[in-house]
Amino acid sequence: MLSPIFYAGEEENLLAFLSDQKATQIILLADANTNGFCIPLFRSLFPSLSNCSRIIIPQGEVNKNIDVCNFIWQELNVLQADTKTIVLNIGGGMLSDIGGFACSVYKRGIEFINIPTTLLAMVDAAYGGKTGIDFQGYKNHIGTFHAAKAIYCQPQYFDTLNERILWSGIAEMTKHALLSNEKDWQNLIHFQRNDFLSIEQIKKSLAIKMKFVEGDEHDQSKRQCLNLGHSLGHAIESYSLQTASPLLHGEAIILGLYYELKLSEQYFDLPANISALTKSLKEKFFAQLQFNFNYSDIAPFLLQDKKNHEGIRMSLLKHIGHCEHGIIVQENHIQALFS
Ligand code: GLY
Repeated sequence: MLSPIFYAGEEENLLAFLSDQKATQIILLADANTNGFCIPLFRSLFPSLSNCSRIIIPQGEVNKNIDVCNFIWQELNVLQADTKTIVLNIGGGMLSDIGGFACSVYKRGIEFINIPTTLLAMVDAAYGGKTGIDFQGYKNHIGTFHAAKAIYCQPQYFDTLNERILWSGIAEMTKHALLSNEKDWQNLIHFQRNDFLSIEQIKKSLAIKMKFVEGDEHDQSKRQCLNLGHSLGHAIESYSLQTASPLLHGEAIILGLYYELKLSEQYFDLPANISALTKSLKEKFFAQLQFNFNYSDIAPFLLQDKKNHEGIRMSLLKHIGHCEHGIIVQENHIQALFS
């Protein structure tokens, strides 16, 4: 079922929706960062929820793990959460992933509402019901499908973000435009920074994601197209998390997109100008991004799925607006990208 989305200005509607759920308790889940920077805005937008109990977890993807889940479950016990408790996940993609996962299995599943505070979480992570934590170095290795009861998108949260976190959301918007159509792609490549932040573009980007999620919530077919850029992107991100300079998800994805578009050229004759334009977007919006790695660094993360013995399954682009999923890519073709 698709989660209702409430936008800035629809606070009263969200409160009415919340009241209809007849929750026994509402608990706020935030990380140390969003607790400091985003909760004040949340309280001013929703004064009636100001005094809700709060669970605060450490920030950052390195904390998206089972130990932090354990902490959330302990705190839910302390707060005597029951099956009619609703948790509001206030934060970026890490927070909605781990918060959604913790809720989805606590007492066999309690409801949660995602309140994304980053561009990336607004256009991607908060929506679609994928929850998860990282495990043994692998991204989102443990998780569930459990859609948020609702989502609330409020661009004022962008004022709380540093530049690096803010602009990393552009990667998923770029992917959505590639999966959409020529018009959306042409628009996006001419965007200036602030164009990405308009509520109109956020809605548009989310609408593209919705088309892939609708009818394939459990990721068995067309939704896998949303994985464009993520096979290599996740491997690069996982490796980076083990180094002294971890990448943000969006930073790894813009790199993954570029390399998977290069593979799309080999496998589907995708015109080379598309990867070139994606590279220009990377240079324009991720100017500080410098991350050195070799194929051998990312290979263990790419090859961890033993089912990948015939090659590595990826989603590749045939042309703008036409992605094929489940394409078997030979390892030597990937290796050649990095030599
Ligand atoms: N972020 C990709 C998906 O939701 O399927």
